[in-house]
Parts: sequence; C-alpha cells; structure tokens
Amino acid sequence: MVGSFEPTTTSGSSTKATTAESFNYKVVRQFAIMTVVWGIVGMAVGMLIAAQMIWPALNFDTPWLTFGRLRPLHTNAVIFAFGGCALFAASYYVVQRTSQVRLFSDKLAAFTFWGWQLVIVGAAITLPMGFTSSKEYAELEWPIDILITLIWVAYAIVFFGTIIKRRVKHIYVANWFFGVYILTIALLHIVNNLELPVSLLGWKSYSIYAGVQDAMTQWWYGHNAVGFFLTTSFLGMMYYFIPKQAERPIYSYRLSIVHFWALNFTYMWAGPHHLLYTSLPDWTQALGMVFSLILLAPSWGGMINGIMTLSGAWYKLRTDPILKFLVVSLSFYGMSTFEGSMMSIRTVNALSHYTDWTIGHVHSGALGWVAMITFGSLYYLIPRLWGKDRMWSMRLVETHFWVATIGVVLYIAAMWIAGVMQGLMWRATEPDGTLTYSFVESVKATYPFYAIRLLGGTLYLFGICLMAYNVFRTVVGAKAVNPLVPTETQDPIRPAASAA
Ligand code: HEM
Ligand code: HEM
Repeated sequence: MVGSFEPTTTSGSSTKATTAESFNYKVVRQFAIMTVVWGIVGMAVGMLIAAQMIWPALNFDTPWLTFGRLRPLHTNAVIFAFGGCALFAASYYVVQRTSQVRLFSDKLAAFTFWGWQLVIVGAAITLPMGFTSSKEYAELEWPIDILITLIWVAYAIVFFGTIIKRRVKHIYVANWFFGVYILTIALLHIVNNLELPVSLLGWKSYSIYAGVQDAMTQWWYGHNAVGFFLTTSFLGMMYYFIPKQAERPIYSYRLSIVHFWALNFTYMWAGPHHLLYTSLPDWTQALGMVFSLILLAPSWGGMINGIMTLSGAWYKLRTDPILKFLVVSLSFYGMSTFEGSMMSIRTVNALSHYTDWTIGHVHSGALGWVAMITFGSLYYLIPRLWGKDRMWSMRLVETHFWVATIGVVLYIAAMWIAGVMQGLMWRATEPDGTLTYSFVESVKATYPFYAIRLLGGTLYLFGICLMAYNVFRTVVGAKAVNPLVPTETQDPIRPAASAA
C-alpha cells in the first residue's frame, strides 16, 4: 500500500537486499558525473548566446557560431543532456532503493548511458552544422530520432523491469512520477517526430503533418516536453530526495496520489496556450487557456506537499544547504507555474508573447526549479554513491546555493522588466494611430537588461563550476564511510548498519 511507505525507513529493511544483491550504482555514478559536465557545457553555450545578444560580433562571422544555431544547441544541451542525465541517474537510483532490487538489466542500463551520450555528441555536431527539423525542442534530425527511440525503449525496459521484479509490494510515489515521464516522452517523441526523410546524406526530413495540424502537434509536444521532461520527472526527484534529506515522511500520501493523476490529466490539454491568436481553431485556444488555469491547482498541491514535508524540521533549513537547494527549487516551481497560468490568459499573453517575459518564465522554471532540485539531489547522491559520509566541502555547497540564487534572481528579474517594457513599447500608439516606438528603439532599451541577464547567467555558471570542483574532490577524496566494505555493497543510507 502506497500510504504506508515512508522513505526514511526504507534503509532499515534494505541491508539484506544491499548485501545479498548489490545495486547497480555504476550507471548512476556515470549519469551523475555527466550531469555536471553537460550542465557546464550547456550553460556555457547559454552564456555565449546571452553575450551575443549584446555583442552580435561574438559569432565571429562563422555560420556554426551564429545565434540561430547555438540557441537550439543550448536548449538541447541543458534540457536533454543536463536534465536528461540527472533524470537517468535519479530514476535508476530511486527505483533500486525503493524496490530493493538491482536494476533489471546491467547491459541495457549501460546501453542507455552510452547511447544517450552518443545522442548528445550527435546533437553537438549536427546542430551547429545547421541540420535541424526546425521544430523547437525536437530539432534533431531523423537518424538521431531513431537512436533516441531505441534508447528510450531500453530505458523503459530497465525501469519497468525493475519495478516488476521489486521486493517491496507497494510502488513508491516517486516511481509513479518517473514511470509516467518515461511513457509520455516515448509517446510525444514518436508522434511529433513522424517525418519523411528526403535525403540520406543531407540528413533532411519533413514532418508528416501540415499547416495548423503541424503547429498543434508540435506544441502538444513542446508543452508536454516541459510538463513531463522538466516537471513530472523532477517531481519524482522531489518525492524521494526531500523526505530523505529532511528525514521526514512525505507530508501527505493521499495528496501525492491526487497530485499525480490531476497533474498528468491536466497537462495534456494545455498545449494550445503556445498558439494563442493564431489560426488554430478558437475553441482549442480556449481549451488550452482553461486547462492551463486548472493546472495551477495540482501544481501548487504538489509544491505544498513538498514544502510541508519540512513540518517539524524547518530549523534544518538554517544549517543544511542541500535542503536549501531543494526547498528553494519548490518555491521557484510554485512561482513559475503561477506565472505560466497567468500567461495563458489570452489578454496577458497578448502582452507577453514574443517578449523576453517568456524567457524570464522559462528560466525561472529551468534555473530555479529544474537545476536547483538537480543540484540538491546530486549533493545528496554523490557522497553516497562513492561511499563518503558527505561532500568534500559543505561550505562550498552553501556558497554554490547563494551564488546560484542571486544568479537566477538577476536573470529572471531582468527578463521580466525587459519583457513588460517591450510589450508596452510595441503596443504604444500616438493619437493619430502611428506607433510611438520603432522596433529598434525597443531593442536599444533592452540592452541594459541583457547585460544584467549575462551577469546572472555568469554567476549561475560559476556556481555549477564550484559544484564540479566539490564533486571532484569528493570522488577522489580518501575518506570512505567504511573502507572495509566495498562501496558497491554498502548501504549508502545507513553506512553503520550495513557495515555491522
Ligand atoms: C547559465 C545559465 C543560462 C544562461 C545564461 C541561459 C541563456 C539563454 C539565452 C540567452 C537564451 C535565448 C533567449 C532568446 O532567444 O531570447 C536561452 C533560451 C532557453 N534556455 Fe537558457 N540559459 C541558461 C540556463 C538554462 C537552463 C539550465 C535551462 C533548462 C534546464 C535553460 C533552458 C532554456 C530554454 C528552454 C530556452 C528557450 C526559451 C524559449 O524558446 O522561449 N537555460 N537561454
Ligand atoms: C502551470 C504550469 C505552467 C503553465 C500553465 C505554463 C504556461 C506557459 C505559457 C502561457 C507560456 C508562453 C507561451 C507563449 O506565449 O508562447 C509558456 C512558455 C514556456 N514555459 Fe511554461 N508554464 C508552466 C510551467 C512551466 C515550467 C515549470 C517550466 C520549466 C520548467 C516551463 C517552461 C516553459 C518554456 C520552456 C516555455 C517556452 C516555450 C517556447 O516558446 O519555446 N513552464 N509557459
């Protein structure tokens, strides 16, 4: 029964499983390290394009360094390389811990690791070369799409195979969230990428959909890529790592189940809010808007469930920087979902669409929620994966937290102000009906905000570099929890118990 599961107590019964049949931590370690590596790469490209917005000459007149080619490289790197590796690591770890068994297949798990790295390298080569399907967040051309499909099927087999052979009767709620993300991403990827290849060497294909149907399918995909790749999956992280780090059971199991079904059902209908005031039928736009407003309820229900898990443990926030990352990520989650619901209202969208407000919204979700919960979860995971009792420097974790928080606030505040300013400048008219400002005037007025965004992004990137150094020192450091027990068979949650 789900309700009786308390993650803080799993470790008690885990000793048998961990010693009799060790977990596969190798693949978790590999994905965890690559999360940090790709995070640095993706955010460095983000910084470069942020700088190009101020100094366009930074493309050095080289086609493969132009903004139009590097932007999809940035989005693919941060979402699928950084976020994807984090999700593989977290889901493989959590499913083993909460099911008390080793992964279903080590070989398939290794295939998902190496295959995913190949996809990322493929993206890093083809996107700057200009190969693109032109669909946002689904730019990769058909040969890479096929590889992704194969890897995803292997991922599903490993994940659900582990669930099937589990030793614990109930399926912990985090696994429900990971499970639905794996299933929906498979569905979204296949349906949106149905395309006709027109050349083998030119790597060119055309979507099988046309016109407004193509747009509708694309944003059904795009919105649910946000919903399931950047939200539901990371909620799986929340449901495991927050109770663990706070050493408290999740606030309400009943709420987590309502959260699960309500969120998944509602997300699927909200895609048309990306296409307001277009030639999409009016009723679909209204449907998208209404479902986006309803979406606020399950989003906040989930956020409250995560935050209230700290009931009775609030004092820990003062001293525990890992918990700070996890809890602040939830605050950003609440903020960005509230903002998203408001931006779905047609009259608000009339102002925000095409402006940097959207970019501010994206990064309050991406930097504030996705990346912060990833950092918190990794700081929990890394020492346990390498058999250490904690990170090499907790002071550095604390510094990372503050640098990242200041960075994200600078980034999103600059984009909000710039966005609203642009929207207002574009709609301002003189009494005779002519425009008050030319477009270029709005661009000029935005420069100071682009500079602040660049500063915020630089701080954020600096933060993850601190993390990389801390991870390196932790991994190579000599201090193991118990050198007598091989790391692979140690119970990382309760080292003392497993060593006994
Ligand atoms: C150092 C950190 C980062 C910097 C400096 C940065 C910078 C940028 C810039 C300059 C753009 C282009 C904006 C435009 O077209 O006007 C962009 C777009 C985007 N970034 Fe980032 N970014 C960072 C981190 C991230 C992370 C961690 C994620 C996701 C997890 C992310 C997701 C996105 C997405 C989805 C877009 C496209 C937004 C849209 O089309 O509306 N970024 N970023
Ligand atoms: C209740 C939840 C949410 C709702 C209703 C929502 C709604 C919206 C709306 C209305 C837009 C602007 C569409 C446009 O004018 O083009 C948007 C853009 C976007 N949102 Fe959200 N949002 C939500 C949560 C999030 C979260 C948590 C993230 C990130 C983790 C996120 C990432 C994005 C991205 C990447 C875009 C830009 C898409 C593009 O044009 O490329 N959203 N969202």
